[in-house]
Amino acid sequence: MFGRRGSSSSGMQTIRPAGVPGLNETSSPAVTEGTAEPAAPPPPVQAESAKPAPEPKAAPTPEPAKTAARPRKKNNEYYETKAEIFNALVEAIDLSQLARLDAEDARDEIRDVVNDIIALKNVIMSISEQEDLLEDICNDVLGYGPLEPLLARDDIADIMVNGAHTVYIETQGKVEQTAVAFRDNAQLMNICQRIVSQVGRRVDDASPICDARLPDGSRVNVIAPPLAIDGPALTIRKFKRDKLTLDQLVKFGSITPEGATILQIIGRSRCNVLISGGTGSGKTTLLNCLTAYIENTERIITCEDSAELQLQQPHVVRLETRPPNLEGEGEITMRDLVKNCLRMRPERIIVGEVRGPEAFDLLQAMNTGHDGSMGTLHANSPREALSRLESMITMGGFSLPSRTLREMIVSSIDVVVQAARLRDGSRRITHVTEVMGMEGDIITTQDVFLYDIVGEDPNGNIIGRHRSTGIGRPRFWERARYFGEESRLAQALDAAELTE
Ligand SMILES: Nc1ncnc2c1ncn2[C@@H]1O[C@H](COP(=O)(O)OP(=O)(O)OP(=O)(O)O)[C@@H](O)[C@H]1O
Ligand SMILES: [Mg+2]
Repeated sequence: MFGRRGSSSSGMQTIRPAGVPGLNETSSPAVTEGTAEPAAPPPPVQAESAKPAPEPKAAPTPEPAKTAARPRKKNNEYYETKAEIFNALVEAIDLSQLARLDAEDARDEIRDVVNDIIALKNVIMSISEQEDLLEDICNDVLGYGPLEPLLARDDIADIMVNGAHTVYIETQGKVEQTAVAFRDNAQLMNICQRIVSQVGRRVDDASPICDARLPDGSRVNVIAPPLAIDGPALTIRKFKRDKLTLDQLVKFGSITPEGATILQIIGRSRCNVLISGGTGSGKTTLLNCLTAYIENTERIITCEDSAELQLQQPHVVRLETRPPNLEGEGEITMRDLVKNCLRMRPERIIVGEVRGPEAFDLLQAMNTGHDGSMGTLHANSPREALSRLESMITMGGFSLPSRTLREMIVSSIDVVVQAARLRDGSRRITHVTEVMGMEGDIITTQDVFLYDIVGEDPNGNIIGRHRSTGIGRPRFWERARYFGEESRLAQALDAAELTE
């Protein structure tokens, strides 16, 4: 791929001064600790427009399966050439100066120097190869290396890096491997380090597990060796600036218009809602959709591990948990936040994800006048969601008799909405279920709206249908009436009933 004129190695050596560090990434300025870290990497994707479309940066196309394979596999010769040029670049420019430039100027500066180095070293390459190399080097110095082209794509929901040579992405509900690769685990580790250092954290042997965020809000988790056996594992949930709306969910077939109306009414009429679903099933997206129907006059407090919700109302206080610092101190848990919330005169409390003893505080809040509070939770069915809630509280050390606990759940939660990612990759809202009461020691529930799987088309896509269960007056009817929504609710329930 990269031909060189004459003896390449001798050419390289004449340019590289004696004592230039070896050609591995740990010597690069982008990663050397405490030295000229070229400042906060810019938001990953800027500064692209001026270029003649380097190949990995192709704009998202509607056919993700094809674009996923676009970044070319790079061979050893490419990496050697890149490392040589990279080192010469480090020698040639003052990185602390570079750090002061904005991203566009820094790229221009790098471009000029790299072009000079290529000419001096007599490296022969086509224009597109040169652009490729330049792009890679800019990404290494200023951004997140091989991850940049993936971060630039809006159609990707998750990026999953399993060691240097295996990178998967999720687009449109489907997980697929890409051709993107890091040179080695050291380069990957350095990029992980750079990401987490932006939020003042470290990932190393001593603390190999780390959560962080990219400047654009994307959620990041890193787990490093020795815990991750085959090299650092990096998982990124891409932040979507334009969150999906209920209308879009209807367009995608995640729910029918009637189902969406029922959800709107649930959101507006201050039902206490639990959104349940598996990993990546669309819980947070759905929670965000429901919050859109909260009135502008209400005071809302959100508690999240990593701020993802985008509420449109004016009177919102956003709270975020804090992990412990390097000394293991200063942690603020979700429970701390939810407890504190209660002293902040909230009208609604929204908990991004309930996963521990804060479940108790959320139930208490729902029970004590903060109607319309909402939260998400990992579970595969509405029933399971309720029993998970119970076990979270029990495991949190509360020694309440289980009947009392269940009574508390019944008097707090009005509706459980279940989201699911089906095996064909589609995301659907599969249940809108009401919590009814207790029969003996058992919590009783009632499905109001369901998704039935009917079959599968020849392409493996699931065929199904949403329907109401024929319940004419759900338990939240009175609430809906109070908010003047009862006729809309009746119409939606009627229309959603299957006729055959
Ligand atoms: N109904 C939907 N149709 C298509 N894409 C969706 C739908 N719901 C969510 N998504 C997309 O799926 C991805 C995951 O969604 P989301 O973050 O809401 O899931 P989650 O269940 O909260 O995940 P986690 O368990 O990791 O918190 C996002 O990129 C989101 O835009
Ligand atoms: Mg979520």
